[in-house]
Amino acid sequence: MREVLATVLENIPIAENIYSLSFATEEEIAVRPGQFCMIGVAGFPLRRPIAVCLAEGRRITVCYQLKGRGTRALASEYAAGERISVLLPLGNGFYAAPAEKKIALVGGGVGIFPLISVMGAYADRDIYAYMGFRSRSAFCMESELGRAKKLVISTDDGSFGLRGNAVQAFERDLGQEQFDVVFSCGPLPMLRALKECLEGKGIPAYVSLEERMGCGIGACLVCVCDRTDGAHARVCKDGPVFAIGDVKL
Ligand SMILES: Cc1cc2nc3c(=O)[nH]c(=O)nc-3n(C[C@H](O)[C@H](O)[C@H](O)COP(=O)(O)OP(=O)(O)OC[C@H]3O[C@@H](n4cnc5c(N)ncnc54)[C@H](O)[C@@H]3O)c2cc1C
Ligand code: FES
Repeated sequence: MREVLATVLENIPIAENIYSLSFATEEEIAVRPGQFCMIGVAGFPLRRPIAVCLAEGRRITVCYQLKGRGTRALASEYAAGERISVLLPLGNGFYAAPAEKKIALVGGGVGIFPLISVMGAYADRDIYAYMGFRSRSAFCMESELGRAKKLVISTDDGSFGLRGNAVQAFERDLGQEQFDVVFSCGPLPMLRALKECLEGKGIPAYVSLEERMGCGIGACLVCVCDRTDGAHARVCKDGPVFAIGDVKL
């Protein structure tokens, strides 16, 4: 992990309330799929955790939803050419063993962004992507998602793709397809539904968790979650990716 002062290349809206921010680091930084960064926004003592969506040479792209004051300031105050302070790469990320050839991605809301990084890193595998959006107005990253061998889009209101969430779309295929591993990120109810639908199927599955964070590097314990064995884990340092059976959802 290191702190870099990067140069903003682009910071533009790509869907309703969603921005894509690309910045250039001075040197190329190796980032694994599912890792995240902590972005410093001037005037805010705490950095904001955001997943790395694309890492191409020195160019890193993150996509973020406008939520509170921090993300709104990020959208309005960091135009191309501005300098931005970023800690990266953070967390463990998703890992697919060489024998895991057929990968299912199940993403909902801003949870689709870390999963897009899996598509780039495992371009040699068969990726089946089940991606859920609130509505058509939130749909984005069409060309990146289009790299999947199979892409199923769903929206909560049925305005685009299937009506429903990504887990429902995934469940429809689960009977026909033999997945080697499942990677997921999204709201907790979605992750719980995924856990339920995989119960007893014997398919390894990993989820990326979102918790409020202070430091992002394992020092403050703000992000602690409960493990199923009764112990605790720091989402920033021990995660954010966990085997689905290892954490309480
Ligand atoms: C590992 C990880 C990866 C993430 N990746 C993405 C992503 O790719 N795209 C995206 O849009 N969002 C992502 N988030 C959520 C994002 O961090 C929050 O939406 C953002 O911090 C909100 O900041 P704010 O100042 O706008 O909101 P405020 O509510 O004003 O924030 C107040 C404080 O709470 C923290 N906070 C608020 N909501 C969250 C949250 N959901 N998760 C963690 N901290 C939160 C903020 O960092 C800040 O310290 C990720 C979170 C984590 C933990
Ligand atoms: S955010 Fe500080 S320990 Fe995880």
